[in-house]
Amino acid sequence: MNLFAVDAADRLMLDVAADSLTAAGGIDSRLGRGGRVAVIDDGYGALTLGAIAAHDLHGVRVHQDLLTGELALANNARIVGFTDRFTTHELGPELLGDVRVVLWRLPRALSGLAETAEAIARFAAPEVEVFAGGRDKYLTPAMNEVLAESFGSVRASRGRQKSRILLASDPKSIGEPRFPVRNRLDDRDLDVVAHGAAFSGPRLDIGTRFLLDYLERMKPDARDAIDLGCGTGILAAALAKARPGIRVTATDQSAAAVASTRATAAANGVADRITVLQDDAMSSAPDNSADLVLCNPPFHVGAAVHTGSAIKMFQQTGRVLRPGGELWTVYNTHLNYRGVMERMVGKTDVMGRNRKFTVTRSVRGLHDAEQ
Ligand SMILES: C[S@@+](CC[C@H](N)C(=O)[O-])C[C@H]1O[C@@H](n2cnc3c(N)ncnc32)[C@H](O)[C@@H]1O
Repeated sequence: MNLFAVDAADRLMLDVAADSLTAAGGIDSRLGRGGRVAVIDDGYGALTLGAIAAHDLHGVRVHQDLLTGELALANNARIVGFTDRFTTHELGPELLGDVRVVLWRLPRALSGLAETAEAIARFAAPEVEVFAGGRDKYLTPAMNEVLAESFGSVRASRGRQKSRILLASDPKSIGEPRFPVRNRLDDRDLDVVAHGAAFSGPRLDIGTRFLLDYLERMKPDARDAIDLGCGTGILAAALAKARPGIRVTATDQSAAAVASTRATAAANGVADRITVLQDDAMSSAPDNSADLVLCNPPFHVGAAVHTGSAIKMFQQTGRVLRPGGELWTVYNTHLNYRGVMERMVGKTDVMGRNRKFTVTRSVRGLHDAEQ
């Protein structure tokens, strides 16, 4: 167990769910041994691999929103020799059909919580037991209320080491799915489609709105553009609609974001020019392959203000932009990213500033390409 990152909430979930996991780990004539256990949003694999190890499970079904989590689980599973004990799935019937036990690391966004709760209630077995855990500091009473929309019984476990579990059972019958949500932004002539866990939901973030005001000034002759950290794909869709000749690659590390962006592209009739990829800061994009990158960078990792992902994005942008290519960014002015963009991408000018946000353009210098 100490080969991979595990915290008190993971341990509490594994302990509280132990009897249920043993019961669900029995041989099922159709699904095989343990095929009735699902794990959702495991951070690095501690829940999945911990449950497999403690209960000799096979056929565990796993969904993780973040690509980094998926890679960590795969890597840790190789180390402990459990790669053949689980399969990964999108949030839906393949993941949850007939499942009796769900171990679920609670997401922070209530709409992400609502979509997953609804999917469990819709597809899992009527006797399903959900063990949804997290650190006390991230749990709110509103989470119980959201779970209670999909389950007849919701209660909290006793806390241990600043962690707690919400136990949900008795799934309600769910009518029409509420997700993804579709919203028309009339003033931008855009439709947005959002899965629960996607940034800003079906609304236009105020920073993104400010960046969109500069769309016409962005590199006019660009052929290949990237929407980096695409969320619901608003930037990609707006750019593709405004410029009929442009091709856009939209990337995000979140499965919910990528699914939302595909749906947003289709809703705006530009899916043929938007390629959507789940990727960590566009690491798989080739060098010198884009003329324009649009980015409203993340500034949260978990609850902490952390700029690591944004800096990684700028670093990758310096590699992926062609010489003369442009990065357009919007950020909370206090984050002051200008210096780091200047170093990692090229000459950076402030193009606009309002009470809260700064929009910058960074141009990749010719000499950088020769280094
Ligand atoms: C501030 S949101 C912007 C979303 C969208 N572009 C918009 O303007 O509405 C930042 C996005 O970056 C994504 N993100 C964070 N870290 C990332 C990483 N390392 N690689 C790819 N995407 C990442 C988040 O999932 C989130 O969707």
